[in-house]
Amino acid sequence: MIERIEELLAAGRAAIEQARDTAALEEVRIEYLGRKAELPNILRGVAELPPEQRGPTGRAANEARKALETEIDARSSKLAAAELEQRLIDDKIDVTLPGDPQPSIGRLHLLTQTRREIEDVFLGLGFQVKEGPELETVYYNFDALNHDPTHPARLETDTFYIGEDLVLRTHTSPMQVRAMLAQPPPIHIIVPGRVYRPDSDATHTPQFHQIEGLAIDEDITLADLKGTLLAAVKAIFGDEREIRLRPHFFPFTEPSVEVDVSCFNCTQGLLEDGSRCNLCKGTTWIEILGAGMVDPNVLGHVDYDTERYQGFAFGMGIERIAMLKHGVPDLRLLYDNDIRFLEQF
Ligand code: DAH
Repeated sequence: MIERIEELLAAGRAAIEQARDTAALEEVRIEYLGRKAELPNILRGVAELPPEQRGPTGRAANEARKALETEIDARSSKLAAAELEQRLIDDKIDVTLPGDPQPSIGRLHLLTQTRREIEDVFLGLGFQVKEGPELETVYYNFDALNHDPTHPARLETDTFYIGEDLVLRTHTSPMQVRAMLAQPPPIHIIVPGRVYRPDSDATHTPQFHQIEGLAIDEDITLADLKGTLLAAVKAIFGDEREIRLRPHFFPFTEPSVEVDVSCFNCTQGLLEDGSRCNLCKGTTWIEILGAGMVDPNVLGHVDYDTERYQGFAFGMGIERIAMLKHGVPDLRLLYDNDIRFLEQF
């Protein structure tokens, strides 16, 4: 009997050694220590043995069982650890990878895209980008820009007043004087930013965006203004574009002009189906901005040698440029934040 026990112990050890994984090891455990296995059976039968065999047989069987249990436990921990290791390698996921399907990361708003596009064009022409305060003094917003004390734009119906001397700037033009006070000529700057007027309908929002331009140097003429704007317009609306300057009035430029771009939507004012172009209303020209030569009265607020330095200025609406360029039919679409609209750009 003792011999048989030793055989079982040896066979069990060999089987434990050979088990490749925890499942195989569990089979070994059942085979050698399970309810129907031989070794436990021997243990259970010890009582029926002749008295002199009971002690040695029981002890040997018990020791063999304990030995196998201990070795199974040890091997089991080893195999489990190895299996865990393997699972960690197999299941490795990189939590820093984007999800699948990838969530949309969004995009810049059309107005931001347009502002940046215009900035890029003028940066390429040697202009610098400057920004100014949206809460502006009446002095910079109107007085320094040569607005007569009775100018209608000053009315409370046309301007948001914040007390007596402060307004939400109605245009980006106040930065002309601020920029000139801040540095000596030459100046070549553009000033993008928000501006405010108490209007609200299909073509006006109380807050909108402009880009101001200012160039001050020696020997600047209206031809420089035209050349600069022509280059910018071609970059924005296409190389075939022309511009024309029409006389106009602004308090802070003299002479003042309005600038039109040749229509990019039609031929000779007509669409392909022969109907009148809705963009230029059949005129072949589209108004895009105001401009002019900086008025000497404006330069009078700055300590510049006006015999030596002159300049031009211009101001355009970013909304208008974006709408013209992309055929946006209603200004309010730019502010509704409807993803179906915004996604198109
Ligand atoms: N500030 C004007 C406006 O808001 C636009 C403008 C016109 C700006 C002529 C200029 C300019 O610099 O020269 O309507």
